[in-house]
Amino acid sequence: MNTIIKKADSDGVSEAVKLLQNGEIAAIPTETVYGLAANALDPVAIEKIFTAKGRPLDNPLIVHVSGIEMARKLGLEILPLAERLAERFWAGALTMIFRRTAEIIPPEVSRGLDTVAVRAPDNPAALEIIRLCGFPLAAPSANASGSPSPTSAQHVLADLNGKIPLIIDGGECRHGLESTVIAFGGGKIRILRPGAITPEMLSEYAEVIVDDVVFAKAAENPKSPGTAHKHYSPKAHVIAVFAESADNFTKYVDMNKQENDHIIAAPEAPTFFARLRELDALGAERIFIRLPEPEGIGLALYNRIIRAAEFNIIKP
Ligand code: TXA
Ligand code: MG
Repeated sequence: MNTIIKKADSDGVSEAVKLLQNGEIAAIPTETVYGLAANALDPVAIEKIFTAKGRPLDNPLIVHVSGIEMARKLGLEILPLAERLAERFWAGALTMIFRRTAEIIPPEVSRGLDTVAVRAPDNPAALEIIRLCGFPLAAPSANASGSPSPTSAQHVLADLNGKIPLIIDGGECRHGLESTVIAFGGGKIRILRPGAITPEMLSEYAEVIVDDVVFAKAAENPKSPGTAHKHYSPKAHVIAVFAESADNFTKYVDMNKQENDHIIAAPEAPTFFARLRELDALGAERIFIRLPEPEGIGLALYNRIIRAAEFNIIKP
C-alpha cells in the first residue's frame, strides 16, 4: 500500500472523509498525539487499525466525537458529573469511560468491555472530519504498538509507512502526550492515565483518585515482574532517575554515562516523545531521564517515563 501525506486543509479533510466513509483507516492530527482513525460503528474498519499498528487485541480504543451531542447518541450512561466535565474540558484532552446502555458501539471497539472510552479532540481538522463523516471515529495513537506516540506526521510515516493509505499533516501536536483517561465510581473521578487535564483541574468537580496503575508500582517495587506493560518505549534503554536535585542528577549521570548514552535532564511534555525518537535516530544506547515531580502535567510525564523505563528506576 502507498501511504500519502496531505495537509490538513479542505482538500486533505475531504480525502480523509472519503476514505473513512469507505471503511478505510487514516491518520489524523489531534492536540494530544496523532490518531489512527476508523468508523467506530464499523467492526471491519476497526480490525484494520489493530492490524496496521500490531496492537494487542485486548487493548480497547477511544471513540472520538465532535461533542457531547454526538456522545449522547451512542447508547452510554452519561452521568451529570460527566456532562459538567464535558462542558468544561471538551473539546480537549479528557477521555471519559462510560457504561454501555445499548450496543451502538460494536464490541470490537472496547474489546468486549461493558464500557466505552470517549473524547472530543481539540483540533479543527479532526473535528471537521468527524462532523463531515457524521459518525464517531475510533482512534488509538498512530504509532506502531509499543513505540513512542507520534506527535508529527513524520513520526506516523516512520512507523506506519505502507500500512495505511493516508496521513493528514496538521503540524506538531500541542500537548504531545496522550489524553487524561478517567472513570467514574461512587461520585469520584479515578484517573487511569494522566494527561494535560490534571488532577488539580479535575478536583474542582469531584474527589479525584489517581489509580495505582499510573505509578506502575515500579517505584516501590522495582523487581516485581509483570505488574506493568512495557509502553512508549524507544529502542534505547530508558533509565529513570529519581534525583532530589538537578545537581544530584548531573553527578549521577556524569559518573555513569558511557559513549552513546544520552540524557534528558528536564523533560517537557510537548517535546518528550519527539526527543525519544530523535535520540533513537542518533543510535542512543541508554537514555538517562530525570523524573519530574508527579504534580500537574508532571504526573503525566512521570507516568510515561516510568512506563518507558520499565523497571530501570534509580535513586542515586
Ligand atoms: O490522546 C489520546 O487519547 C490519543 C488521541 C489519538 O486521541 N489516543 C490514544 O489512544 O492515546 P490509545 O489507544 O493509544 O490509548 C487509549 C487508552 C488505552 O490505555 C486503553 O486501554 C484505554 O485508553 N481505554 C480505552 N477504552 C477503555 C475502556 N473502555 N476502559 C478502560 N480503558 C480504556
Ligand atoms: Mg497508544
